[in-house]
Amino acid sequence: MTLVDNSPTTPDETVGTATTHIFNSAVAANAIGAAWEVGALDELDKHGKFNVPEFAERNDLHPTATMGMLTALASVGIVERQGDTVLTGEHFAAAFEQRALFHWLTQGSGELFIKMPYVLRNANRVGKFYSRDAKAISYACREVNERFFDPAFWGAMHGLDFTPTKVADLGSGSGERLIQIVSRYPGSTGVGVDIAVPALDMARHEAAGNDVADRLSFIEDDVRAIQPRPEFADVDLLTCFMMGHDFWPRENCVRTLRALREAFPSARRFMLGDTARTDTYSDDKLPIFTLGFEVGHDLMGVYLPTMAEWEGVFEEGGWRCLRKHTIGVSVSAIFELERL
Ligand SMILES: C[S@@+](CC[C@H](N)C(=O)[O-])C[C@H]1O[C@@H](n2cnc3c(N)ncnc32)[C@H](O)[C@@H]1O
Repeated sequence: MTLVDNSPTTPDETVGTATTHIFNSAVAANAIGAAWEVGALDELDKHGKFNVPEFAERNDLHPTATMGMLTALASVGIVERQGDTVLTGEHFAAAFEQRALFHWLTQGSGELFIKMPYVLRNANRVGKFYSRDAKAISYACREVNERFFDPAFWGAMHGLDFTPTKVADLGSGSGERLIQIVSRYPGSTGVGVDIAVPALDMARHEAAGNDVADRLSFIEDDVRAIQPRPEFADVDLLTCFMMGHDFWPRENCVRTLRALREAFPSARRFMLGDTARTDTYSDDKLPIFTLGFEVGHDLMGVYLPTMAEWEGVFEEGGWRCLRKHTIGVSVSAIFELERL
C-alpha cells in the first residue's frame, strides 16, 4: 500500500498559524487548571522558577507527565523551559490571575464540551444528558469569588444597616462564602443549600477544618423548589452567587424569587451575584470567559438572562433592587435586594 500525503502543507508550514495556535491553546487551557491544582502556578508565583524533576518528586507527580503539562504552558508563553528548569513566561501573570476561569472550563466543565456532538442531538437531550464535575466547579468558583466578586461583596456588606445574625447561602458550592461571613460576624450562624452532593461534601469538609464549624450547616435541596423550613425562619441575610441563572426562564425566576420570600420570612437583604448573557460583543471581540460560559449553558439548555432581563424581574418577584455593583468578569454584577 502506498501512503499519499494529500496535505497542502508540510508540518513546518503550520508553525505559527492560527489553527496551530488554537490547537496548542486547547491543550494549554487544560494545563493551566492542572498546574494550579498541583501547586505549580503557586510555586512559580513564589519563586519565579523551579526544577521540574524535584518538584514532581516532592509532590508525588509523574515526572514525564509533569514536564508535558509544563510544555503545554510553554507553547503559549505562560512559562519558559530551560532544560529541567521552568521559569515564568511573559503571559504568566495574566494566566495566574485568570487560572480559575480556565479550571472552570476544563476541569469543571470539560466533559460537557467533550460530549458536544452527543449533546447537540435532540434524541439524546432527555434525562441527565450531560455531566460536569461539581467539586471542580466549586473549587474554581471559590477563587472566582475571591478575585472578582469579593471586593464588591464586602463593600456591600460593610454598607448594611444591620448586623447579620443568620445567613443562608443558596448554591453554596465550596462553602467558602458562609465560612467567611460567619467568621466576620461573631456569634452568627450559617446554612448552605446546594443540590449537588459532591459540593456539599466539599463544603462540610472545608467547614470541619475551620473554627466556625459548629456555627455552619449544609443541606441538600433544590433552590428552585425551596419550601419554608424551621432553620430558615430567622435568616436575616440571603446570599446567592453564580447560580441565580438557574432560576430562569423568567416565569420560573419570578416564582423562585417569590418562594424565597416565603421560605426566608426574616430576610432583610438578599445579595445576588451572577454573570449575565452578553449582548454587546461581536463574536471576534469576546472577553475572557464569556464564550465558555454562554456556549456551555447553550449546550446544557440552561437559559441565561441578560443584565436587562435581571433588572426587570426583581419587582415582580417581590424584591426591590437597592444597588447594583458591576464586576469585571464578562458581564457580571451583585444586586443588593430587599423585600418589597
Ligand atoms: C457555579 S457554582 C457556585 C458556587 C458558590 N455559590 C460560589 O459562589 O462559589 C453553582 C453552585 O450552585 C449549585 N446549584 C445549581 N443549581 C442549583 C439548584 N437548583 N439548587 C441548589 N443548588 C444549585 C451547584 O451545585 C453549585 O454548587
